[in-house]
Amino acid sequence: MSKQHYSTTLKAIHWGTLLLVIAAFLSIEFREFYEKGTETRELFKFVHFQIGGLLLLLTIARLVIRKVQGVPDMVSMPKWQTAVAHGVHIALYACLIAMPILGVLTLVFAGKDTTVLGMEMQGWVAANKDFAHDLEEIHESIGEAFMWIIFLHAAGALVHHFVQKDDTLVKMKFSGR
Ligand code: HEM
Ligand code: HEM
Repeated sequence: MSKQHYSTTLKAIHWGTLLLVIAAFLSIEFREFYEKGTETRELFKFVHFQIGGLLLLLTIARLVIRKVQGVPDMVSMPKWQTAVAHGVHIALYACLIAMPILGVLTLVFAGKDTTVLGMEMQGWVAANKDFAHDLEEIHESIGEAFMWIIFLHAAGALVHHFVQKDDTLVKMKFSGR
């Protein structure tokens, strides 16, 4: 028989990821309230880099754990809905991996004197500000798309729970059923 719920570890990572993603967005948006060059603005950026780095490690761990422990089947629904849900999950994983990598590369190519999870960003390659700027733009554009994909995903989960009244959300709830 297939599993009925995600494992406690995968549930914890799922909801932990939600909190970290919110913190990543808020930390980089809040920097705008402070003048360029101020310590507080730099601190918000630094926090953003660390949270993003953590998200990358957590997502790699999640994909390994998911492979080892397995996940429950999707609830029975029309084929197109299953395909959309799968597509959205893949897009979420892609963003969780691409965003931090693009962010780190931005800092590396900008030659920024900062660290991400203790790793120095300066001195890996010759600084190339134009390329760093392009990477940053891609990071920001994907970041915007990421927000909409999360919104679509969360809305879908809530429609399943409150409208279709199926077990989609229950599989991810700590209390289960
Ligand atoms: C899933 C993780 C991440 C998300 C969702 C995310 C999201 C964002 C967003 C939305 C922006 C644009 C903010 C704006 O223009 O108002 C941004 C900017 C930026 N992010 Fe990330 N990011 C993530 C991870 C990272 C990581 C790991 C790094 C680097 C280690 C990073 C470095 C940057 C940089 C350098 C900027 C431009 C900041 C500035 O110049 O003021 N990001 N990020
Ligand atoms: C209020 C916000 C959210 C709700 C209500 C929610 C709900 C759910 C539910 C019910 C599932 C299980 C779907 C199924 O197996 O059929 C799920 C899976 C998933 N969620 Fe969320 N989620 C939310 C936010 C997020 C965020 C912020 C991310 C990532 C940035 C995310 C990434 C994923 C991924 C990748 C899966 C697929 C898990 C797998 O099978 O590998 N979710 N979500």
